[in-house]
Amino acid sequence: MAVRSQNSQTGSRKAQMEMQNKEIAETLRHIKNRILVMSGKGGVGKSSVAAYLSVSLAKKGYRVGLMDVDLHGPSIPRILGLKGSPNFGSHKGKMLPVRYLPNMEVISIENLMGENKDAATIWRGPLKISAIRQFISDIEWMNLDYLVIDSPPGTGDEPLTVAQTIPDARALIVTTPQEVSLADVRKSINFCRQVKMDILGLVENMSGLKCPYCGAIIDVFKMHGGEATARRENLRLLATLPLEVEVVMGGDSGDTTFLDNKALVITREFNKMVDEIVKLTDPQTSSSSQNDKGYLRAG
Ligand SMILES: Nc1ncnc2c1ncn2[C@@H]1O[C@H](COP(=O)(O)OP(=O)(O)OP(=O)(O)O)[C@@H](O)[C@H]1O
Ligand SMILES: [Mg+2]
Repeated sequence: MAVRSQNSQTGSRKAQMEMQNKEIAETLRHIKNRILVMSGKGGVGKSSVAAYLSVSLAKKGYRVGLMDVDLHGPSIPRILGLKGSPNFGSHKGKMLPVRYLPNMEVISIENLMGENKDAATIWRGPLKISAIRQFISDIEWMNLDYLVIDSPPGTGDEPLTVAQTIPDARALIVTTPQEVSLADVRKSINFCRQVKMDILGLVENMSGLKCPYCGAIIDVFKMHGGEATARRENLRLLATLPLEVEVVMGGDSGDTTFLDNKALVITREFNKMVDEIVKLTDPQTSSSSQNDKGYLRAG
């Protein structure tokens, strides 16, 4: 009797899983490009790159979803100054992500936590996997040109779940130039190769700080380490982004306006990176779909 009930439980779990797999496949059919922003090391600027890349793509007129799968330390809402929670307005009975721009939607665990944003959340592996799968199966994303996924540091459950759940996701690996970060980045590169995830390229962040008084470049975290790693690993270096005080300020206050300030080196470099990413991710298909839906390119 006990065996039969266990069998039926396993059977119903399997059926649920299959149903969810179908929902995930259906959602993914409406997402053209999937980009996983990752790094072996913490604090190198993954969330900043993910958030600003999403905003820049949206400003170009692409339809963008930003999914924050850092369940322990979600920082996307703070970087974007994003308030509000997803609501259940979908006609399919699914949850709608939080709208940030008319053509950009975001989902982060923080938006689901109500008032208690500083609570430490304890997630065991299976729960994390289930939450990330639900971010795709139970959220009604609009038809997207890009889904950008921000992951926590390392090569644990979160990037692995993304790799297993979102086929054709391509990795954008962020590093600082210093050796301790580069060592971790090599692990990320090996992770991608092991799970057969295509690597879009590397971003060297926090690469030099221009002294506001004398204009000299101070290499706080050294320089060119990302470039050397990219060369050695035969990968594209997508950008070299300097340390910039405006990014620190903007990251704390949820202000992204520095992305329009072309006087800043970081803005010019970031824009070049976005253009390169657009070039690498089949802009033709993306732009034709924008025309279908009436979205305009910003220029
Ligand atoms: N180029 C930059 N210049 C100045 N500050 C930066 C730059 N890039 C990121 N920062 C700042 O560094 C801090 C860490 O950035 P961020 O949260 O994006 O890193 P992360 O890799 O996502 O961290 P975690 O591993 O904790 O998820 C933030 O305060 C952010 O504003
Ligand atoms: Mg982060």
